[in-house]
Amino acid sequence: MSESVTITDNRTGESVEIPIVNGGIDGKTMSKLMPGVWYFDEGFKSTASTASAITELDGEQGFLRYRGYPIEQLAEKSTFLEVCYLLQNGELPTKEQSDIWTHDVTHHTYVHENFRRRFMEGFHHDAHPMGMMVSAIAALSTFYPDAKDIEDPENRYRQINRLVSKAPTIAAMTYKASVGQPFVYPDNNLNYAENFLSMMWKVNEKDYKPDPVLSKALDQLLILHADHEQNCSTTTMRVVGSSHADPYIAAAAATAGLYGPRHGGANEQVIYMLDEIGSYDNIEPFIESVKAGEGRLMGFGHRVYKAYDPRARIVKETADRVFEVTGKNPMLDIALKLEEIALNDDYFKSRNLYPNVDFYTGLIYQAMGIPLNMFTVMFTIGRMPGWLAHWSELLEQDQPIARPRQIYTGSPERDYVAMADRK
Ligand code: CMC
Repeated sequence: MSESVTITDNRTGESVEIPIVNGGIDGKTMSKLMPGVWYFDEGFKSTASTASAITELDGEQGFLRYRGYPIEQLAEKSTFLEVCYLLQNGELPTKEQSDIWTHDVTHHTYVHENFRRRFMEGFHHDAHPMGMMVSAIAALSTFYPDAKDIEDPENRYRQINRLVSKAPTIAAMTYKASVGQPFVYPDNNLNYAENFLSMMWKVNEKDYKPDPVLSKALDQLLILHADHEQNCSTTTMRVVGSSHADPYIAAAAATAGLYGPRHGGANEQVIYMLDEIGSYDNIEPFIESVKAGEGRLMGFGHRVYKAYDPRARIVKETADRVFEVTGKNPMLDIALKLEEIALNDDYFKSRNLYPNVDFYTGLIYQAMGIPLNMFTVMFTIGRMPGWLAHWSELLEQDQPIARPRQIYTGSPERDYVAMADRK
């Protein structure tokens, strides 16, 4: 059987045979046959917007691989910084490459003092950390005008290095700003996750060292969030990057995409939901209200996974280790029961709705003491290397500017009506 489809335009009788390559057919070839006919695909549900060699995921089989490596192996054996390197470069680093990359990240964690004093201190005391995060990442663009030279690979490396290094610094700043504490400078003696926890929790202790179980768990959560192919925020990164905006601006746009409750904001919403449910007795009525269309079960469902999200499985194990240190999150039992009921309910079964990565991450962050409004900020730190890998790939592919078409459904042409004549 030939690996192709034949499409006939019944208006003209003309046909075109289009090969199926890597599971896709070439839209440009179809367009040649039917100029002016657009493929209506709201939410890009059936559109592959790019070729990419970074992350492979299979929603039916429920696997996720970065550069071919299964997420389970990376979560168990690797570190977040190594995964950053892998996503960016396509291969795991040698010892020497790893040392250079780790050194470069560790030594670019500071932000310009004016950035802290004039910019970060300007936010209102109750500003949402994600709003601060989006703005702060965009503001980095004004401190690094050299970032506009996106053609030079060495320059790109410098900006990527800065964004990965400074994301936790800015994230911790948003927290300190929200609680009115002085900012804690990065500590180059700590690893990536430890340094973030130190900037979050240290006040004025001399030798603050976070609990190793918690820093390891955080590192693992960052790995799980590092990339997820063409999700909303990554697509935003690629779309904005395709206009050749500098990477800070593109990453700020991606962060904005992540903010929404249907994407990265879901982990925060899960906690609000569990809080609202409050007790076992309320689970069934809550499920019924979801089935009646009154809201969604947050942390459930995924555009691509139609089986259990492999990340959610790993997160569940991480949660057990974290709770041994922090004590069990009292909402865990409600979450487990909710999951059990939903997984056995026809509404969720027939729609292939399973827990996604966000169902349990919020419980872990909360047990660690991270405030709810910081959850999506945590996701931002994790997703940064994925966005940047896609940004580099897009530029190397020399992709055209993203510019989809639309199906116009508005009014036909009509004449302007003077205000006095309007009804
Ligand atoms: N609770 C209840 N019903 C749902 C849910 C849910 N969480 N998700 C989807 N459905 C239903 C939806 O109502 C629809 O039903 P029907 O066919 O009767 O109209 C059907 O399932 C398909 O939904 P959809 O909106 O077409 O699916 P989608 O692929 O566009 O949405 C999603 C994917 C993640 C936006 C959605 O599942 C959702 O809103 N989930 C809750 C938010 C969430 O947990 N987001 C985190 C995603 S994972 C982290 C990340 O990568 O960002």
